[in-house]
Amino acid sequence: MQLQTKHLLTIRDLLPQEVLGLVQRALELKAALKAGGHERPLAGKSLALIFDKPSTRTRVSFEVGIAQLGGTSLFMTSQDSQLGRDEPLKDTARVMSRYVDCMVVRTFGQEVLTELARYADIPVINALSDLYHPCQVLSDLLTVREKLGQVHGLAYAWVGDGNNMAHSWLEAAACLGLKLRLACPPGFTPEDAIVAHAQAKGAEVQLTTDPAEAVAGAQVINTDVWASMGQEKDAQRRRELFEGYTVDKRLLSLAAEEAIVLHCLPAHRGQEISEEVLEGPRAVVWDQAENRLHMQKAIMEALLTGKAS
Ligand code: CP
Ligand code: NVA
Repeated sequence: MQLQTKHLLTIRDLLPQEVLGLVQRALELKAALKAGGHERPLAGKSLALIFDKPSTRTRVSFEVGIAQLGGTSLFMTSQDSQLGRDEPLKDTARVMSRYVDCMVVRTFGQEVLTELARYADIPVINALSDLYHPCQVLSDLLTVREKLGQVHGLAYAWVGDGNNMAHSWLEAAACLGLKLRLACPPGFTPEDAIVAHAQAKGAEVQLTTDPAEAVAGAQVINTDVWASMGQEKDAQRRRELFEGYTVDKRLLSLAAEEAIVLHCLPAHRGQEISEEVLEGPRAVVWDQAENRLHMQKAIMEALLTGKAS
């Protein structure tokens, strides 16, 4: 499958059939890897990761993923490149395009990604910004498909901060027409424009301040940290304001019997999720983390060879 987008900056860049195609391809790559290996369609390709925030899963899954597909990667931060000495993004984009085949960028402002993409001749992938985390949610759709057999026809719940992950779930809901209820404390709701876009696209999106209302009958329960990277100074205040938004056994008892609990990790036990739920039978977080590898590979293959399935 040829993706119609050159870059992956947000799930809004993808068509519904492309999202489903990536999920399908990731499943195939996962099965092939478990069966002993697969072709190396990215032999000779190189990937630059430019990260301005810490990462375990995203960095490792992209680096290992491109190696498994036959390519190589290099990792740098803005601070240890000339970006940290104010070399313009537009110059960096054009220079990097002469060396590597793809840039994977984790940063603060979404506008950094937009600017790099504007000037790059190569695909730019959003590895998390303050606004979105598209690769994580694409991978989470793979986990939902694996665990519940489908991504459609389910009730999705989001409990906690209306952050980058919530925004990418809204974009996924918009793209696929999903039913998504979000429970966020007052003042921590997702951006109005992103909610409005999802609703205009026909997604069944509902906002509430009551976690019980969001979770009631849901098959997919999603949460994330209360203070994202870059918000560390606000963490204590948020811990107080988010009281009652912990995904714990009592809240989970309101969900559908077959419900799964997703958390993109890293998790803070006792804050957004209880130890009991995180370590319990409904949580699928380790498979969810593994699936980052398979989805990154599907994404890179699609963007670098035009073959998603
Ligand atoms: N979920 C996720 O993106 O994890 P990292 O911050 O470790 O990459
Ligand atoms: N919302 C979190 C996600 C971490 C993977 C953050 O931005 O820090």
